[in-house]
Amino acid sequence: MASPPLLEMRGIAKRFGTLQALDAVDLVVQEREIHALVGENGAGKTTLMNVLYGLYRADAGTIRIRGAEARIGGPRDAIARGIGMIHQHFMLVPPLTIAENVVLGDERTGFVLDRRAVEARVRELSDRFGLAIDPAARVEAVPLGLQQRVEILKVLYRGSEILVFDEPTAVLTPQEVDELFVIVRKLRDEGKTVILITHKLREVLAVTDRITVLRDGRNAGELVTRETNAAQIARAMVGHELRTLQARTTPTGTEPVLEIGGLAARSDRGTAALRGVDVVVHAGEILGLAGVGGNGQSELAECVMGLRRPTGGTILIAGADVTHDDPKRTRARGVAYVPEDRRLEGLVLPFTVAENFVLGKHDRAPYARGGVLDGAAIAREGARLAREFDLRPPDPGVVTANLSGGNLQKVVLGRELSERPKLIIASQPTRGLDVAATEYVHERLLEQRQAGAAVLLISSELDEIRALSDRIAVIFEGRIVAALTAAEATEERLGLLMAGQAAA
Ligand SMILES: Nc1ncnc2c1ncn2[C@@H]1O[C@H](COP(=O)(O)OP(=O)(O)O)[C@@H](O)[C@H]1O
Ligand SMILES: [Mg+2]
Repeated sequence: MASPPLLEMRGIAKRFGTLQALDAVDLVVQEREIHALVGENGAGKTTLMNVLYGLYRADAGTIRIRGAEARIGGPRDAIARGIGMIHQHFMLVPPLTIAENVVLGDERTGFVLDRRAVEARVRELSDRFGLAIDPAARVEAVPLGLQQRVEILKVLYRGSEILVFDEPTAVLTPQEVDELFVIVRKLRDEGKTVILITHKLREVLAVTDRITVLRDGRNAGELVTRETNAAQIARAMVGHELRTLQARTTPTGTEPVLEIGGLAARSDRGTAALRGVDVVVHAGEILGLAGVGGNGQSELAECVMGLRRPTGGTILIAGADVTHDDPKRTRARGVAYVPEDRRLEGLVLPFTVAENFVLGKHDRAPYARGGVLDGAAIAREGARLAREFDLRPPDPGVVTANLSGGNLQKVVLGRELSERPKLIIASQPTRGLDVAATEYVHERLLEQRQAGAAVLLISSELDEIRALSDRIAVIFEGRIVAALTAAEATEERLGLLMAGQAAA
Protein backbone atom coordinates (compact mmCIF):
# COMPACT_ATOMS: atom_id res chain seq x y z
CA MET A 1 0.00 0.00 0.00
CA ALA A 2 1.25 3.47 -0.83
CA SER A 3 2.26 5.49 2.20
CA PRO A 4 -0.17 8.27 3.17
CA PRO A 5 0.62 11.83 2.13
CA LEU A 6 2.72 13.92 4.49
CA LEU A 7 -0.09 16.43 4.99
CA GLU A 8 -3.75 15.93 4.26
CA MET A 9 -6.28 18.64 5.08
CA ARG A 10 -9.85 17.56 4.25
CA GLY A 11 -13.14 19.42 4.26
CA ILE A 12 -11.78 22.44 6.09
CA ALA A 13 -14.44 25.06 6.77
CA LYS A 14 -14.04 28.45 8.41
CA ARG A 15 -16.60 31.19 8.78
CA PHE A 16 -15.98 34.78 9.92
CA GLY A 17 -19.39 36.21 10.87
CA THR A 18 -21.42 35.86 7.72
CA LEU A 19 -18.42 35.29 5.47
CA GLN A 20 -17.65 31.68 4.55
CA ALA A 21 -13.88 32.15 4.16
CA LEU A 22 -13.23 28.42 3.63
CA ASP A 23 -15.84 25.96 2.40
CA ALA A 24 -14.88 22.27 2.49
CA VAL A 25 -11.34 22.90 1.32
CA ASP A 26 -8.92 20.02 0.67
CA LEU A 27 -5.16 20.37 0.55
CA VAL A 28 -2.93 17.34 0.04
CA VAL A 29 0.83 17.79 0.13
CA GLN A 30 3.34 15.04 -0.53
CA GLU A 31 6.63 14.71 1.27
CA ARG A 32 9.55 16.54 -0.37
CA GLU A 33 7.53 18.67 -2.73
CA ILE A 34 7.22 22.39 -3.29
CA HIS A 35 3.51 22.94 -3.28
CA ALA A 36 1.99 26.19 -4.51
CA LEU A 37 -1.14 27.49 -2.85
CA VAL A 38 -2.52 30.09 -5.23
CA GLY A 39 -5.60 32.25 -5.57
CA GLU A 40 -6.77 35.82 -5.86
CA ASN A 41 -6.68 38.14 -2.86
CA GLY A 42 -9.28 36.97 -0.40
CA ALA A 43 -9.44 33.41 -1.76
CA GLY A 44 -8.68 31.98 1.68
CA LYS A 45 -4.99 31.00 1.38
CA THR A 46 -3.80 32.67 4.57
CA THR A 47 -6.85 31.49 6.49
CA LEU A 48 -6.19 27.88 5.47
CA MET A 49 -2.58 28.14 6.62
CA ASN A 50 -3.67 29.79 9.87
CA VAL A 51 -5.88 26.78 10.50
CA LEU A 52 -2.89 24.51 9.86
CA TYR A 53 -0.73 26.55 12.21
CA GLY A 54 -3.36 26.50 14.95
CA LEU A 55 -4.03 30.23 14.84
CA TYR A 56 -7.65 29.59 13.83
CA ARG A 57 -9.87 26.70 14.85
CA ALA A 58 -11.69 25.26 11.82
CA ASP A 59 -15.47 24.87 11.99
CA ALA A 60 -15.18 21.50 10.25
CA GLY A 61 -12.63 19.23 8.64
CA THR A 62 -9.64 17.11 9.59
CA ILE A 63 -5.89 17.41 9.40
CA ARG A 64 -3.74 14.30 9.02
CA ILE A 65 0.02 14.15 9.14
CA ARG A 66 1.49 10.95 7.73
CA GLY A 67 -1.98 9.43 8.01
CA ALA A 68 -2.50 10.18 11.69
CA GLU A 69 -5.15 12.69 12.68
CA ALA A 70 -3.60 15.82 14.18
CA ARG A 71 -5.58 18.10 16.45
CA ILE A 72 -3.76 21.39 16.32
CA GLY A 73 -4.90 23.67 19.12
CA GLY A 74 -2.29 26.38 18.70
CA PRO A 75 1.08 27.24 17.14
CA ARG A 76 2.83 25.21 19.83
CA ASP A 77 1.05 22.04 18.64
CA ALA A 78 1.83 22.94 15.05
CA ILE A 79 5.53 23.43 15.76
CA ALA A 80 5.64 20.16 17.72
CA ARG A 81 4.24 18.41 14.64
CA GLY A 82 6.90 19.88 12.40
CA ILE A 83 4.98 22.77 10.87
CA GLY A 84 6.80 26.09 10.51
CA MET A 85 5.49 29.42 9.27
CA ILE A 86 7.63 32.05 7.59
CA HIS A 87 5.55 35.17 8.12
CA GLN A 88 4.87 37.85 5.54
CA HIS A 89 5.92 40.52 8.00
CA PHE A 90 9.18 39.63 9.62
CA MET A 91 9.02 39.32 13.38
CA LEU A 92 12.61 39.96 14.33
CA VAL A 93 14.26 42.00 17.07
CA PRO A 94 16.68 44.29 15.21
CA PRO A 95 19.33 44.99 17.92
CA LEU A 96 19.84 41.28 18.65
CA THR A 97 22.11 38.97 16.72
CA ILE A 98 20.78 36.46 14.24
CA ALA A 99 21.53 33.58 16.59
CA GLU A 100 19.70 35.33 19.42
CA ASN A 101 16.71 35.93 17.19
CA VAL A 102 16.70 32.31 16.12
CA VAL A 103 16.42 30.95 19.68
CA LEU A 104 14.03 33.67 20.85
CA GLY A 105 10.70 32.16 21.82
CA ASP A 106 11.92 28.58 21.58
CA GLU A 107 10.92 27.07 24.94
CA ARG A 108 13.34 24.21 24.61
CA THR A 109 16.16 26.65 25.19
CA GLY A 110 15.19 27.08 28.84
CA PHE A 111 16.84 29.79 30.90
CA VAL A 112 20.44 29.09 30.07
CA LEU A 113 21.56 30.16 26.66
CA ASP A 114 24.77 28.58 25.51
CA ARG A 115 25.74 31.19 22.97
CA ARG A 116 28.55 29.13 21.48
CA ALA A 117 26.37 26.04 20.99
CA VAL A 118 23.52 28.06 19.49
CA GLU A 119 25.79 29.86 17.05
CA ALA A 120 27.35 26.58 15.99
CA ARG A 121 23.95 25.00 15.39
CA VAL A 122 22.71 28.05 13.43
CA ARG A 123 25.86 28.03 11.32
CA GLU A 124 25.42 24.34 10.61
CA LEU A 125 21.81 24.91 9.44
CA SER A 126 22.84 27.92 7.39
CA ASP A 127 25.51 25.87 5.61
CA ARG A 128 23.32 22.85 5.04
CA PHE A 129 20.53 24.86 3.43
CA GLY A 130 22.73 27.36 1.60
CA LEU A 131 21.52 30.38 3.56
CA ALA A 132 24.92 32.11 3.83
CA ILE A 133 24.12 33.70 7.19
CA ASP A 134 26.56 34.85 9.86
CA PRO A 135 24.89 33.96 13.18
CA ALA A 136 26.82 36.64 15.08
CA ALA A 137 25.64 39.55 12.88
CA ARG A 138 22.98 41.89 14.21
CA VAL A 139 19.64 41.69 12.42
CA GLU A 140 19.48 45.48 11.95
CA ALA A 141 22.67 45.31 9.89
CA VAL A 142 21.41 42.84 7.30
CA PRO A 143 19.26 43.68 4.26
CA LEU A 144 15.61 42.69 4.00
CA GLY A 145 16.29 39.71 1.75
CA LEU A 146 18.58 38.26 4.39
CA GLN A 147 16.17 39.00 7.24
CA GLN A 148 13.80 36.61 5.55
CA ARG A 149 16.50 33.94 5.81
CA VAL A 150 16.61 34.50 9.55
CA GLU A 151 12.90 33.66 9.63
CA ILE A 152 13.70 30.50 7.68
CA LEU A 153 16.47 29.64 10.15
CA LYS A 154 14.10 30.11 13.10
CA VAL A 155 11.74 27.57 11.61
CA LEU A 156 14.52 25.10 10.76
CA TYR A 157 16.01 25.46 14.25
CA ARG A 158 12.69 24.30 15.70
CA GLY A 159 12.94 21.17 13.56
CA SER A 160 10.15 21.95 11.08
CA GLU A 161 9.53 19.49 8.26
CA ILE A 162 6.79 21.50 6.52
CA LEU A 163 7.69 25.14 5.82
CA VAL A 164 4.89 27.52 4.91
CA PHE A 165 5.85 30.72 3.07
CA ASP A 166 3.04 33.30 2.86
CA GLU A 167 3.71 35.57 -0.13
CA PRO A 168 7.45 35.66 0.55
CA THR A 169 8.46 37.56 -2.57
CA ALA A 170 6.33 40.65 -2.07
CA VAL A 171 9.17 42.53 -0.38
CA LEU A 172 12.08 41.29 -2.49
CA THR A 173 13.97 42.53 -5.56
CA PRO A 174 14.01 40.22 -8.61
CA GLN A 175 17.51 39.00 -7.73
CA GLU A 176 16.48 38.30 -4.15
CA VAL A 177 13.51 36.33 -5.47
CA ASP A 178 15.86 34.17 -7.53
CA GLU A 179 18.07 33.61 -4.49
CA LEU A 180 15.07 32.67 -2.38
CA PHE A 181 14.05 30.10 -4.98
CA VAL A 182 17.51 28.55 -4.89
CA ILE A 183 17.02 28.16 -1.13
CA VAL A 184 13.53 26.76 -1.49
CA ARG A 185 14.80 24.10 -3.91
CA LYS A 186 17.64 23.33 -1.54
CA LEU A 187 15.14 22.88 1.29
CA ARG A 188 13.28 20.34 -0.81
CA ASP A 189 16.45 18.56 -1.90
CA GLU A 190 17.48 18.28 1.75
CA GLY A 191 14.19 16.56 2.55
CA LYS A 192 11.91 19.40 3.61
CA THR A 193 8.44 20.09 2.26
CA VAL A 194 7.45 23.59 1.24
CA ILE A 195 4.05 25.24 0.88
CA LEU A 196 4.43 28.47 -1.08
CA ILE A 197 1.60 30.99 -1.15
CA THR A 198 1.74 33.42 -4.05
CA HIS A 199 -0.40 34.91 -6.75
CA LYS A 200 2.50 35.46 -9.13
CA LEU A 201 2.20 32.87 -11.88
CA ARG A 202 5.79 33.21 -13.01
CA GLU A 203 6.94 32.16 -9.55
CA VAL A 204 4.54 29.24 -9.45
CA LEU A 205 5.87 27.94 -12.76
CA ALA A 206 9.50 28.56 -11.86
CA VAL A 207 9.78 26.76 -8.58
CA THR A 208 6.86 24.51 -7.61
CA ASP A 209 6.03 20.84 -8.23
CA ARG A 210 2.28 20.84 -7.70
CA ILE A 211 -0.39 23.50 -7.35
CA THR A 212 -3.61 23.85 -5.37
CA VAL A 213 -5.85 26.68 -6.54
CA LEU A 214 -8.41 28.32 -4.25
CA ARG A 215 -11.19 30.59 -5.42
CA ASP A 216 -13.70 32.25 -3.09
CA GLY A 217 -12.88 29.83 -0.29
CA ARG A 218 -13.28 26.67 -2.37
CA ASN A 219 -10.97 24.33 -4.25
CA ALA A 220 -10.68 25.44 -7.88
CA GLY A 221 -8.07 23.04 -9.22
CA GLU A 222 -5.14 20.78 -8.50
CA LEU A 223 -2.42 20.91 -11.11
CA VAL A 224 0.98 19.41 -11.76
CA THR A 225 3.31 22.29 -12.55
CA ARG A 226 5.17 20.71 -15.43
CA GLU A 227 1.89 19.75 -17.11
CA THR A 228 0.27 23.16 -16.94
CA ASN A 229 0.82 26.75 -18.04
CA ALA A 230 0.14 30.29 -16.90
CA ALA A 231 -3.14 30.60 -18.82
CA GLN A 232 -4.56 27.46 -17.23
CA ILE A 233 -3.59 28.52 -13.70
CA ALA A 234 -4.96 32.02 -14.24
CA ARG A 235 -8.23 30.57 -15.52
CA ALA A 236 -8.58 28.43 -12.41
CA MET A 237 -7.81 31.43 -10.19
CA VAL A 238 -10.28 33.88 -11.70
CA GLY A 239 -12.88 31.40 -12.98
CA HIS A 240 -12.90 32.59 -16.58
CA GLU A 241 -10.65 33.00 -19.55
CA LEU A 242 -8.41 36.05 -19.31
CA ARG A 243 -8.84 38.38 -22.21
CA THR A 244 -5.49 38.63 -23.90
CA LEU A 245 -4.01 42.09 -24.04
CA GLN A 246 -4.68 43.92 -27.27
CA ALA A 247 -2.20 43.29 -30.01
CA ARG A 248 0.46 45.92 -29.82
CA THR A 249 0.70 48.34 -32.70
CA THR A 250 3.32 50.94 -33.32
CA PRO A 251 2.82 54.12 -31.32
CA THR A 252 0.20 56.36 -32.85
CA GLY A 253 2.08 59.62 -32.54
CA THR A 254 5.59 60.97 -32.41
CA GLU A 255 5.16 64.39 -30.88
CA PRO A 256 6.57 64.68 -27.37
CA VAL A 257 3.95 65.28 -24.68
CA LEU A 258 6.12 65.15 -21.58
CA GLU A 259 9.68 66.45 -21.73
CA ILE A 260 11.73 66.36 -18.57
CA GLY A 261 15.23 67.85 -18.71
CA GLY A 262 17.90 67.78 -16.03
CA LEU A 263 15.33 67.42 -13.26
CA ALA A 264 16.66 67.60 -9.71
CA ALA A 265 14.67 67.34 -6.49
CA ARG A 266 15.04 66.49 -2.84
CA SER A 267 13.23 63.84 -0.85
CA ASP A 268 11.11 64.62 2.21
CA ARG A 269 14.18 63.95 4.31
CA GLY A 270 16.15 66.55 2.36
CA THR A 271 18.46 64.14 0.56
CA ALA A 272 19.03 64.32 -3.20
CA ALA A 273 16.25 62.18 -4.71
CA LEU A 274 16.61 63.18 -8.38
CA ARG A 275 20.03 64.01 -9.79
CA GLY A 276 19.47 65.26 -13.32
CA VAL A 277 16.74 63.14 -14.90
CA ASP A 278 15.96 63.34 -18.63
CA VAL A 279 12.79 61.62 -19.84
CA VAL A 280 10.60 62.14 -22.90
CA VAL A 281 7.21 60.49 -23.40
CA HIS A 282 5.48 60.75 -26.78
CA ALA A 283 1.81 60.72 -27.68
CA GLY A 284 0.51 57.17 -28.08
CA GLU A 285 3.39 55.60 -26.21
CA ILE A 286 3.87 53.95 -22.84
CA LEU A 287 7.23 54.70 -21.33
CA GLY A 288 7.95 52.26 -18.52
CA LEU A 289 10.08 53.62 -15.70
CA ALA A 290 11.49 50.56 -13.96
CA GLY A 291 13.18 50.64 -10.59
CA VAL A 292 13.17 49.30 -7.08
CA GLY A 293 10.99 51.56 -4.92
CA GLY A 294 12.77 54.49 -3.30
CA ASN A 295 15.11 55.38 -6.16
CA GLY A 296 13.41 58.69 -6.94
CA GLN A 297 10.36 57.55 -8.84
CA SER A 298 7.83 58.93 -6.33
CA GLU A 299 9.58 62.30 -6.31
CA LEU A 300 9.60 62.33 -10.12
CA ALA A 301 5.85 61.77 -10.30
CA GLU A 302 5.26 64.45 -7.67
CA CYS A 303 7.39 66.99 -9.52
CA VAL A 304 5.47 66.43 -12.74
CA MET A 305 2.14 66.78 -10.92
CA GLY A 306 3.22 69.99 -9.19
CA LEU A 307 3.15 68.31 -5.80
CA ARG A 308 6.87 68.75 -5.19
CA ARG A 309 9.08 71.69 -6.08
CA PRO A 310 12.07 70.77 -8.24
CA THR A 311 15.47 72.18 -7.25
CA GLY A 312 16.63 72.23 -10.86
CA GLY A 313 15.69 71.33 -14.43
CA THR A 314 12.54 71.79 -16.50
CA ILE A 315 9.27 70.01 -17.14
CA LEU A 316 7.33 70.68 -20.34
CA ILE A 317 3.87 69.38 -21.08
CA ALA A 318 2.82 69.73 -24.72
CA GLY A 319 5.52 72.35 -25.07
CA ALA A 320 4.40 74.50 -22.12
CA ASP A 321 6.72 74.99 -19.17
CA VAL A 322 4.98 73.62 -16.06
CA THR A 323 8.06 73.33 -13.87
CA HIS A 324 6.63 75.63 -11.23
CA ASP A 325 2.91 75.05 -11.73
CA ASP A 326 0.64 73.87 -8.96
CA PRO A 327 -1.37 70.61 -9.26
CA LYS A 328 -4.54 72.36 -10.34
CA ARG A 329 -2.88 74.16 -13.27
CA THR A 330 -1.00 71.01 -14.26
CA ARG A 331 -4.17 68.93 -14.25
CA ALA A 332 -5.95 71.59 -16.29
CA ARG A 333 -3.49 70.82 -19.10
CA GLY A 334 -4.98 67.34 -19.41
CA VAL A 335 -2.78 65.42 -17.02
CA ALA A 336 -4.16 62.40 -15.15
CA TYR A 337 -2.51 60.96 -12.07
CA VAL A 338 -2.82 57.45 -10.68
CA PRO A 339 -0.88 57.82 -7.43
CA GLU A 340 1.19 55.21 -5.68
CA ASP A 341 -0.86 55.19 -2.51
CA ARG A 342 -4.48 55.42 -3.55
CA ARG A 343 -5.70 55.34 0.06
CA LEU A 344 -3.65 58.36 1.08
CA GLU A 345 -3.38 60.49 -2.03
CA GLY A 346 -5.92 59.20 -4.49
CA LEU A 347 -9.19 59.17 -2.64
CA VAL A 348 -11.13 60.69 0.21
CA LEU A 349 -12.18 57.49 1.95
CA PRO A 350 -15.18 58.80 3.93
CA PHE A 351 -16.75 60.17 0.70
CA THR A 352 -19.04 58.14 -1.53
CA VAL A 353 -17.83 56.65 -4.78
CA ALA A 354 -19.75 59.29 -6.76
CA GLU A 355 -18.12 62.08 -4.77
CA ASN A 356 -14.67 60.62 -5.37
CA PHE A 357 -15.38 60.33 -9.09
CA VAL A 358 -15.90 64.09 -9.32
CA LEU A 359 -13.19 65.10 -6.85
CA GLY A 360 -11.26 68.09 -8.18
CA LYS A 361 -13.79 68.81 -10.93
CA HIS A 362 -16.88 69.30 -8.77
CA ASP A 363 -16.74 73.05 -9.27
CA ARG A 364 -17.38 72.96 -12.99
CA ALA A 365 -19.96 71.67 -15.47
CA PRO A 366 -21.66 69.28 -15.52
CA TYR A 367 -21.30 68.87 -11.74
CA ALA A 368 -21.91 72.50 -10.81
CA ARG A 369 -23.60 75.46 -12.41
CA GLY A 370 -22.89 79.02 -11.37
CA GLY A 371 -20.91 77.75 -8.40
CA VAL A 372 -23.75 75.57 -7.09
CA LEU A 373 -23.23 71.81 -6.85
CA ASP A 374 -25.68 69.74 -8.85
CA GLY A 375 -26.27 66.61 -6.73
CA ALA A 376 -28.39 64.92 -9.37
CA ALA A 377 -25.70 65.38 -12.03
CA ILE A 378 -23.04 63.99 -9.70
CA ALA A 379 -25.19 60.94 -8.93
CA ARG A 380 -25.94 60.39 -12.62
CA GLU A 381 -22.29 60.63 -13.65
CA GLY A 382 -21.32 58.43 -10.67
CA ALA A 383 -23.71 55.71 -11.79
CA ARG A 384 -22.38 55.88 -15.35
CA LEU A 385 -18.72 55.67 -14.30
CA ALA A 386 -19.44 52.89 -11.79
CA ARG A 387 -20.77 50.81 -14.70
CA GLU A 388 -18.13 51.86 -17.20
CA PHE A 389 -15.29 51.14 -14.79
CA ASP A 390 -16.76 47.83 -13.67
CA LEU A 391 -17.19 48.61 -9.99
CA ARG A 392 -18.51 45.71 -7.92
CA PRO A 393 -21.18 46.30 -6.93
CA PRO A 394 -21.79 49.18 -9.41
CA ASP A 395 -23.20 51.39 -6.66
CA PRO A 396 -22.00 55.02 -6.66
CA GLY A 397 -23.53 55.61 -3.21
CA VAL A 398 -21.16 53.25 -1.36
CA VAL A 399 -18.71 54.81 1.08
CA THR A 400 -15.30 54.50 -0.54
CA ALA A 401 -13.57 53.24 2.61
CA ASN A 402 -15.54 49.99 2.32
CA LEU A 403 -14.23 49.03 -1.13
CA SER A 404 -11.59 46.38 -1.86
CA GLY A 405 -8.18 47.39 -3.26
CA GLY A 406 -9.16 46.56 -6.82
CA ASN A 407 -12.34 48.60 -6.60
CA LEU A 408 -10.52 51.55 -5.04
CA GLN A 409 -8.21 51.61 -8.02
CA LYS A 410 -11.18 51.48 -10.40
CA VAL A 411 -12.56 54.61 -8.73
CA VAL A 412 -9.23 56.38 -9.23
CA LEU A 413 -9.11 55.28 -12.87
CA GLY A 414 -12.72 56.28 -13.41
CA ARG A 415 -12.03 59.78 -12.22
CA GLU A 416 -8.67 60.19 -13.92
CA LEU A 417 -9.34 58.59 -17.29
CA SER A 418 -12.89 59.69 -18.02
CA GLU A 419 -11.84 62.96 -19.63
CA ARG A 420 -9.41 61.78 -22.29
CA PRO A 421 -6.14 62.89 -20.70
CA LYS A 422 -3.16 63.87 -22.84
CA LEU A 423 -0.69 62.56 -20.33
CA ILE A 424 -1.10 59.88 -17.67
CA ILE A 425 1.30 59.47 -14.78
CA ALA A 426 0.61 56.00 -13.36
CA SER A 427 2.63 55.17 -10.28
CA GLN A 428 2.68 51.50 -9.17
CA PRO A 429 -0.86 51.24 -10.57
CA THR A 430 -1.43 47.57 -9.74
CA ARG A 431 0.38 47.28 -6.42
CA GLY A 432 -1.60 45.02 -4.13
CA LEU A 433 -4.17 44.14 -6.77
CA ASP A 434 -5.12 40.59 -7.74
CA VAL A 435 -4.88 39.11 -11.22
CA ALA A 436 -8.29 40.18 -12.49
CA ALA A 437 -7.99 43.76 -11.23
CA THR A 438 -4.43 44.01 -12.58
CA GLU A 439 -5.62 42.87 -15.98
CA TYR A 440 -8.36 45.49 -15.84
CA VAL A 441 -5.92 48.31 -15.06
CA HIS A 442 -3.58 47.17 -17.84
CA GLU A 443 -6.39 47.15 -20.38
CA ARG A 444 -7.43 50.68 -19.44
CA LEU A 445 -3.86 51.97 -19.80
CA LEU A 446 -3.41 50.30 -23.18
CA GLU A 447 -6.74 51.70 -24.29
CA GLN A 448 -5.57 55.21 -23.39
CA ARG A 449 -2.34 54.67 -25.26
CA GLN A 450 -4.31 53.49 -28.31
CA ALA A 451 -6.36 56.68 -28.03
CA GLY A 452 -3.17 58.73 -28.25
CA ALA A 453 -2.34 59.51 -24.62
CA ALA A 454 1.28 59.59 -23.47
CA VAL A 455 1.69 57.27 -20.50
CA LEU A 456 4.50 57.33 -17.96
CA LEU A 457 4.22 53.97 -16.20
CA ILE A 458 6.23 53.87 -12.98
CA SER A 459 6.47 50.34 -11.64
CA SER A 460 8.74 47.99 -9.78
CA GLU A 461 6.95 44.97 -11.29
CA LEU A 462 9.10 43.75 -14.15
CA ASP A 463 6.30 41.72 -15.72
CA GLU A 464 4.12 44.79 -15.83
CA ILE A 465 6.82 47.01 -17.28
CA ARG A 466 7.66 44.47 -19.96
CA ALA A 467 4.06 43.66 -20.86
CA LEU A 468 2.97 47.25 -21.39
CA SER A 469 5.91 49.46 -22.33
CA ASP A 470 7.01 50.59 -25.77
CA ARG A 471 10.25 51.87 -24.32
CA ILE A 472 11.79 51.33 -20.91
CA ALA A 473 13.97 53.56 -18.76
CA VAL A 474 15.58 52.33 -15.57
CA ILE A 475 15.99 54.63 -12.58
CA PHE A 476 18.57 54.00 -9.88
CA GLU A 477 19.55 56.38 -7.10
CA GLY A 478 17.90 59.33 -8.79
CA ARG A 479 19.44 58.85 -12.23
CA ILE A 480 18.25 57.22 -15.43
CA VAL A 481 20.83 54.46 -15.82
CA ALA A 482 19.51 52.93 -19.04
CA ALA A 483 17.01 53.47 -21.83
CA LEU A 484 15.96 50.35 -23.70
CA THR A 485 13.44 49.24 -26.28
CA ALA A 486 10.93 46.64 -25.13
CA ALA A 487 12.80 44.00 -27.14
CA GLU A 488 16.15 44.74 -25.49
CA ALA A 489 14.74 44.65 -22.00
CA THR A 490 15.11 41.06 -20.90
CA GLU A 491 14.09 40.30 -17.38
CA GLU A 492 17.63 39.58 -16.32
CA ARG A 493 19.02 42.75 -17.82
CA LEU A 494 16.33 44.89 -16.21
CA GLY A 495 16.81 43.16 -12.88
CA LEU A 496 20.54 43.87 -12.88
CA LEU A 497 20.04 47.49 -13.90
CA MET A 498 17.47 47.97 -11.17
CA ALA A 499 19.94 46.59 -8.66
CA GLY A 500 22.45 49.24 -9.72
CA GLN A 501 24.60 47.10 -11.92
CA ALA A 502 25.13 49.63 -14.66
CA ALA A 503 27.38 47.33 -16.67
CA ALA A 504 24.31 45.28 -17.59
N1 LIG B 1 -9.77 37.45 11.07
C1 LIG B 1 -10.65 37.67 10.11
N2 LIG B 1 -11.87 38.19 10.38
C2 LIG B 1 -12.77 38.40 9.41
N3 LIG B 1 -12.57 38.11 8.11
C3 LIG B 1 -11.38 37.59 7.76
C4 LIG B 1 -10.36 37.34 8.73
N4 LIG B 1 -9.29 36.81 8.10
C5 LIG B 1 -9.61 36.75 6.80
N5 LIG B 1 -10.88 37.20 6.59
C6 LIG B 1 -11.60 37.22 5.31
O1 LIG B 1 -11.56 35.92 4.79
C7 LIG B 1 -11.36 35.92 3.39
C8 LIG B 1 -10.10 35.14 3.06
O2 LIG B 1 -8.98 35.90 3.50
P1 LIG B 1 -7.49 35.38 3.39
O3 LIG B 1 -7.39 33.99 3.87
O4 LIG B 1 -6.63 36.37 4.04
O5 LIG B 1 -7.27 35.42 1.81
P2 LIG B 1 -5.90 35.31 0.96
O6 LIG B 1 -4.79 34.99 1.90
O7 LIG B 1 -6.18 34.24 -0.06
O8 LIG B 1 -5.75 36.64 0.29
C9 LIG B 1 -11.29 37.37 2.99
O9 LIG B 1 -12.56 37.77 2.53
C10 LIG B 1 -10.91 38.07 4.27
O10 LIG B 1 -11.40 39.39 4.27
MG1 LIG C 1 -3.04 36.12 2.32
